[in-house]
Amino acid sequence: MPASDKFELISEMAKRRGYFWPSYEIYGGVGGFYTFGPLGSKVKRKIEDKFRHFFTRRLNIFEIESSVITPGKIFEASGHVDHFREPMVECRDCKRGFRADHLLQEIAGMSDTETEKLTLKELMDKIKQRNVHCPECDGDFRKAKHFMTMFTTTIGPYSEATGYGRPEAAQGIFVEFRRLCDYARENLPFGVFQIGHALRNEISPRQGLIRLREFTIMDVEFFFDPEDSNCPLLKDVENETLRLLTAGTKLKGKKESVEVTVKEALNQGHIKAEWQAFFMALSKRFLMELGVPEDKQRFIEKLDWERAHYSLQGFDQEIYLERWGWVEVSGHNYRTDFDLRRHMEFSGVDMTVFKEYEKPVWEEEVTIQPVMPKIGPAFKGKASEIVRLLSNADPKKVQMALKRKAFYSLKGFKILPEHVKIMRTKVKKDGKRFIPHVVEPSFGSDRLVYIALEYAYKKKRGRTLLTLPRDLAPIQVGVYPLLNKDELPEKAKQVYQLLMDQRVMTEYDESGSIGRRYARADEIGTPLGVTVDYQTLKDDTVTIRDRDTWKQVRTAIEELPELLRAYLKYQIDFDGLGQPIKD
Ligand code: ATP
Ligand code: GLY
Repeated sequence: MPASDKFELISEMAKRRGYFWPSYEIYGGVGGFYTFGPLGSKVKRKIEDKFRHFFTRRLNIFEIESSVITPGKIFEASGHVDHFREPMVECRDCKRGFRADHLLQEIAGMSDTETEKLTLKELMDKIKQRNVHCPECDGDFRKAKHFMTMFTTTIGPYSEATGYGRPEAAQGIFVEFRRLCDYARENLPFGVFQIGHALRNEISPRQGLIRLREFTIMDVEFFFDPEDSNCPLLKDVENETLRLLTAGTKLKGKKESVEVTVKEALNQGHIKAEWQAFFMALSKRFLMELGVPEDKQRFIEKLDWERAHYSLQGFDQEIYLERWGWVEVSGHNYRTDFDLRRHMEFSGVDMTVFKEYEKPVWEEEVTIQPVMPKIGPAFKGKASEIVRLLSNADPKKVQMALKRKAFYSLKGFKILPEHVKIMRTKVKKDGKRFIPHVVEPSFGSDRLVYIALEYAYKKKRGRTLLTLPRDLAPIQVGVYPLLNKDELPEKAKQVYQLLMDQRVMTEYDESGSIGRRYARADEIGTPLGVTVDYQTLKDDTVTIRDRDTWKQVRTAIEELPELLRAYLKYQIDFDGLGQPIKD
């Protein structure tokens, strides 16, 4: 790694210029928490707003906001209590904890595909074989163990009321599905997203904004009928190329991605769900608008043992970063009906949607009726719960179990044949109820801030330029009096106020030489500088300077707001802003 790589340069600039810095520094700092300063919080918000626009403008997708602290039951139902954990090792000497798999990747050069499938014992064996020691003090490690990475708390003063900080915003959507589906008038497909804080008690975060313990997640859950899963918007993206590294290629030990169009990826069976392919194409375009070229992006498919427990097929969208190589920016999972089904089982609430048949059909229906004279004495105070649970149980499964084993296990209760009456009737059906399937693109906006900055960070004649896309720059226009005397500052303040009143995000700066003010504006990524000079006092014109080329044009103050707005929306280029000025 070079002495000062881009990560270090950007971290230093970010602290000095008010983008972001590690939190709680006056108390020595705590890993994995960052504060976004005046500029950083603006860029982050702009990225999130772009995401809102990008992922919702053509689709039936709406935004909600749910809470971060979540009752334990929800993450038991979702499977996180059992699965949301990472392997860790603790140093015997300095007592620091590390992700066992990350150590093997960073120190022993293993790939995540290799480390992900290892058991705790195998991880430990590899650590010993490859002579991996504590990166802080060179000590030996204790035995590897699993560490649950959800933050745990209690809700209210009741120690038994366990709550978790949500590690994903998705569950806040799934648990509200009934109301959201009614809001969408049961019209599939529809999507729901949220942008909000997520908490993950990461074991040893050492990568700045890339790995935080509290970060902002942007989860889209898109619900569709698995029997009618065509994406009508596919035409818009079918010729978009994606760099894919498929599971099949990975299994052959190869690391090269292939470039295929979305259409080819679907036809060749690389991507199972059309909607998933659609969101992957949108995500590629989204990253391009943040400044990442296509050859620095790829989608890598997760192998069976790498996928989250709820996922039938999963891809990570990865971006190439100078220090760490390929880093995930978004996860794309086909979650099927896993989450809704589990919440239906655990809560007893119906999560199905009605679908009308083209014409009615006669079907045999199996129903179960509780036999109260038997259930009452057998289950006493629990009888009403049994009746409720039975009403949500699948009658065919109950029937089958009673036939095979002579009992049915219902959430720990043993149901015997005498407790229920199984009825078979022919019924006319106008339609059926089913649980929708879900594809999920999931981004973290903090990582995106860092990535946008890394791709914007350039050097020109020894000076730093942050060539952020115009619509992401935290300050859009700098307004400067050429000198801090005569009537120049007063006039420049008028121009500043005019632009602010017209909702152009402007900064007024009169300190230091004009050259230093331009250099500072270039470093924080302000696309345009408007300078008030002596000519302005005569004819009400100003110069406009371009951050990237340092070219200048002259234009009338009264035309400024409209021209700047058009420029910032990429409707005109720099030459469209006025009359060129020779250097
Ligand atoms: P990683 O493999 O990097 O830990 P993940 O597979 O756990 O990520 P997901 O669960 O798919 O990540 O989360 C969705 C997105 O949330 C990621 O693509 C990433 O952009 C972001 N994200 C996840 N964990 C963190 C974190 N600790 N800090 C910042 N962003 C994160
Ligand atoms: N979306 C990542 C997880 O919570 O499993």
